[in-house]
Amino acid sequence: MAKKILVTGGTGYIGSHTVVELINEGYEVVIADNLSNSFAFVIDNIEKITGVRPYFYKTELTDAGATKAIFDKHPDVCGVIHFAALKAVGESVEKPLLYYHNNLFSLINIIQAMEEIGCHNLVFSSSCTVYGQPDELPVRETSPILPALSPYGNTKQIAEEMIKDKAGISELKAILLRYFNPIGAHASALIGELPIGVPNNLVPFITQTAIGKRKELSVFGNDYQTPDGTCIRDYIHVVDLAKAHIISLERLLDKRNKNSVEVFNIGTGKGYSVLEVINAFESASKVKLQYKFAPRRQGDIEQIWADTDYANEELKWCAERNLFEMLESAWKWECNLGTLNL
Ligand code: UFG
Repeated sequence: MAKKILVTGGTGYIGSHTVVELINEGYEVVIADNLSNSFAFVIDNIEKITGVRPYFYKTELTDAGATKAIFDKHPDVCGVIHFAALKAVGESVEKPLLYYHNNLFSLINIIQAMEEIGCHNLVFSSSCTVYGQPDELPVRETSPILPALSPYGNTKQIAEEMIKDKAGISELKAILLRYFNPIGAHASALIGELPIGVPNNLVPFITQTAIGKRKELSVFGNDYQTPDGTCIRDYIHVVDLAKAHIISLERLLDKRNKNSVEVFNIGTGKGYSVLEVINAFESASKVKLQYKFAPRRQGDIEQIWADTDYANEELKWCAERNLFEMLESAWKWECNLGTLNL
């Protein structure tokens, strides 16, 4: 019988790609999402891609009763991948309590409900934001956790601590995946990143500018201490990232984890500057991008990329798709969006 996995935030950007990979691997999937930053049509498109419709519950995971009700309906859930969270760095500075309330209560409710049904396997969405601007690059899992630069980042740090504390005194086992910068979309162009309003992140802003929804891209800062003066990030294809979740989940289900809580960097190990991303986009899309240099964005770190040795060796996982493929798929998704009856 297929194993059943609960994916919170399963209609979101990374969540939806992970649901597709789970279904492709033969898992039965239950999605819980409040649709605050995603759309119900994503479930239809997951079905179009996989031929299987996942269970879906529109739920507020900050509500303990509502969270527990999902587990009561599906007491055979054997693992949880917890994506559901607010994630806009700038908004978190404006509305810190919203971020602490949403991101931490939902995690508490999930862990409590898991315990009540005897499910002990958790894969958690963490972020490279927990490292701040590291002193040494590439950044390793053992690098220091520096004070968070935003309430959003702080929720990720606190969540990691909460999971470690709980795992220390219970049967909970968890894998914390510290994502670098996920971009790109599914090859079908039926699911992808769909920001509501003006995009905060680089790649959706690029694709929306190229298609004419935005006038021009502002490149935030060209006076950084990097080869071309623009910030450097480790961009990873969202499908590669999704696959890392399946591998992590199976490590827990097969009891191959070495500690009750394990942490992995999920990136490519390569850093690209904003200008390199723009150039790669132009060659992938054959569109000339309108952009200008603008002042630095507050809170941006100068450069970060991952040391992925530990994930490569321990998880036997490796990012496979290059920057060109990431941007090509992001562009295909943007072009297809008009046909998707939103
Ligand atoms: N950038 C621009 N113009 C834009 C948007 C972004 O120049 O319109 C630049 C940024 O200054 C940065 C790079 O593009 O140098 C990447 O910016 P993103 O906003 O796409 O990504 P961030 O690295 O700032 O943020 C990501 C995640 C956060 C997470 C953070 C951790 O979106 O959730 O990584 O470092 F907290």
